[in-house]
Amino acid sequence: MTYLFAPERYVGDGFVLRSYDLGDGPLLSEASDESYEHLRPWMPWAVPHMPVEDGEKLVRQFRARYLLAEGFVIGVFSSDEMRLLGSAGFHLREGPITTGCAEIGMFIRQSEAGRGLGPRVVTAMLEWGFSAWPWLRLAWRCDQRNLASIRVAEKCGLRHEGVLRGQLAHVGNGRRDTACYALTKQDWLARPARGADATPPPASPKPLG
Ligand SMILES: CC(C)(COP(=O)(O)OP(=O)(O)OC[C@H]1O[C@@H](n2cnc3c(N)ncnc32)[C@H](O)[C@@H]1OP(=O)(O)O)[C@@H](O)C(=O)NCCC(=O)NCCS
Repeated sequence: MTYLFAPERYVGDGFVLRSYDLGDGPLLSEASDESYEHLRPWMPWAVPHMPVEDGEKLVRQFRARYLLAEGFVIGVFSSDEMRLLGSAGFHLREGPITTGCAEIGMFIRQSEAGRGLGPRVVTAMLEWGFSAWPWLRLAWRCDQRNLASIRVAEKCGLRHEGVLRGQLAHVGNGRRDTACYALTKQDWLARPARGADATPPPASPKPLG
């Protein structure tokens, strides 16, 4: 499998996940402008202001790469699709599509963060990713200092696999340690029935071979 007829849309409880499309630029620009202070510590691409035409260019790039099966950036839209609540994606950071591996990436816009939306979206990405998509393993990686992101991984039952020390340049100065979490399709199918809001079991760190 070198090409993927990627699924286009998932309707969640209070949100829609879908590929960005032509005309979504203003929504991305507005969500990005609101969220600069919130994103700046963790996202190297965060900008204080995204002109609408830059937003439109970006969503067109996302759409083109989606159709070419080169990368899958996914918007988190309100149910009426009039507002962008955040952005997510299945990123090919562990190898090409043939590996069956992808990394889930995500941000929730500043005014929607802290209300439990992040874990609900990641749970939806796992549910969708292991059913309509062909993923066999979905990973979640974050700066070890990003406690909200680590909490999302724990709340979604992702397994802690280890820490890659000094793996990337930090957004500010120095290097960052990367916390690695993942679930395989087998893990997902064997999971006990539980909601994203359930208290997670204690993480059991496992060294990365
Ligand atoms: C990380 C992020 C996706 C979480 O989404 P969210 O919708 O805010 O998720 P929640 O509302 O469940 O909040 C996350 C959890 O982290 C906790 N949290 C938030 N900030 C925290 C902090 N500074 N220290 C410790 N815990 C923190 C919250 O209390 C909550 O845990 P709880 O439910 O046990 O109280 C969102 O905050 C975000 O977009 N952050 C900026 C971008 C980013 O870091 N993306 C992830 C990159 S890997």
